[in-house]
Amino acid sequence: MAVTTYSLPKLPYAYDALEPAISGQIMELHHSKHHQAYVTNLNKALQSHVAAATAGDIATQIALQPVIRFNGGGHINHSLFWLNLAPTASAEANPDSARALVAEIDKTWGSLDAFKKAFAAALLAIQGSGWGWLVREDGPARSLRIVTTKDQDPVVGGEVPVFGVDMWEHAYYLQVCAHLTPFVTPNPLPSRGSFPCGSMSLCLCVSLPCYACVHASLSSHREC
Ligand SMILES: [Fe+2]
Repeated sequence: MAVTTYSLPKLPYAYDALEPAISGQIMELHHSKHHQAYVTNLNKALQSHVAAATAGDIATQIALQPVIRFNGGGHINHSLFWLNLAPTASAEANPDSARALVAEIDKTWGSLDAFKKAFAAALLAIQGSGWGWLVREDGPARSLRIVTTKDQDPVVGGEVPVFGVDMWEHAYYLQVCAHLTPFVTPNPLPSRGSFPCGSMSLCLCVSLPCYACVHASLSSHREC
């Protein structure tokens, strides 16, 4: 039985291309270490699963399900996440490049700012680690909706993820330490000194990724 081997996708920009919104340091760690770990562990689990299936070992196949779910979801989610981001100065980061999506958001939430508030509230309400998503519902209405998923669970069940924000600590801890609100709230951009942990040696505290996560994301899914 053939086993598909997954690999770490290359980023469509340099690690430091999102600065000052997201530091190059955390982008490199997030991509080359965390995402790579999901890929490595997914491949191992899939190989073990095939071996167990070949041997008729149902107990091992069952035991591997959560491992495949966690690492497979991590690979899917991060692969989408990198494509949601773009340098702030790029054309893709301008909401004008995704007018159809912005119009749909306006229709659903009243305005882009109202959506951003609702999205930030949903992100901040996640208990533990997870993801926040703007999804397009399945069915004739194809409505937009905000959903969250736990741990590394991907969006499934017919909904199409438009964009997502990684709310795991490894996505922001070098920048905002325990101050999660700034990670999802675009304005005002706090200065470095506004964080108690503002020492550059401990915490980079460079601006905030919300413009990259939300603004840029709005423009990176033209299928809407
Ligand atoms: Fe992550």
